[in-house]
Amino acid sequence: MKIAPSILSADFGNLEKSINLVRDAEWLHVDVMDGHFVPNISIGPVVVKGLRKYTNQVLDTHLMITDPAKYLEDFIVAGSDRITFHIEATKDPIDVINLIREKGAKVGISIKPNTEVNEISDYIHLIDQVLVMSVEPGFGGQKFMINSLEKIKAISALRDVFNKDLLIVVDGGINKETAILCKEAGADVLVAGSYVFNSDNPNAQMRLLK
Ligand code: DX5
Ligand code: ZN
Repeated sequence: MKIAPSILSADFGNLEKSINLVRDAEWLHVDVMDGHFVPNISIGPVVVKGLRKYTNQVLDTHLMITDPAKYLEDFIVAGSDRITFHIEATKDPIDVINLIREKGAKVGISIKPNTEVNEISDYIHLIDQVLVMSVEPGFGGQKFMINSLEKIKAISALRDVFNKDLLIVVDGGINKETAILCKEAGADVLVAGSYVFNSDNPNAQMRLLK
């Protein structure tokens, strides 16, 4: 499995040092929050551009923002390799998917804990990843919501039929116990923020989880 450390739990005063702390991770998860779609504000494209200078790791960018179509090009130009938007944040998902593809990034759709899988089933064949939120988006360090497992299983069943290459990413409350449950349910990538960074050796903690 892939583990994508979430820099939301890293030291924003010293991001170069933070990413060096998880140097063996293939992906870095970058949480973008606008204070509107979620009740918190994090970072914008300028920080992605800064990260890009210091790492070749895949920048897996999770847009927790209203109107993703308006900003996604800025993130891709800044260096985001993968862009995940929320199905709840747009009226025209096909348009957003096409825009991300045109600009050359991989495409993901995320669902919040109270959004049903059938909201995204029409788009499974068009995208590269689904990101299942296993906490309410907005903050790190929350408790894993167990109902996410049924959603992972349902998406895994859709994958078998519509898109064998689809990656299932799970984000929120990942630790060594919940990781196993996600894996058994069909997840491919686990996003982990506090579990990785709130440890003495984030790289070792990330490897342990993997
Ligand atoms: C929450 C973010 C997550 C967050 C996960 O809205 O999308 O990526 O960083 O943090 P942990 O792993 O601490 O739950
Ligand atoms: Zn995230």
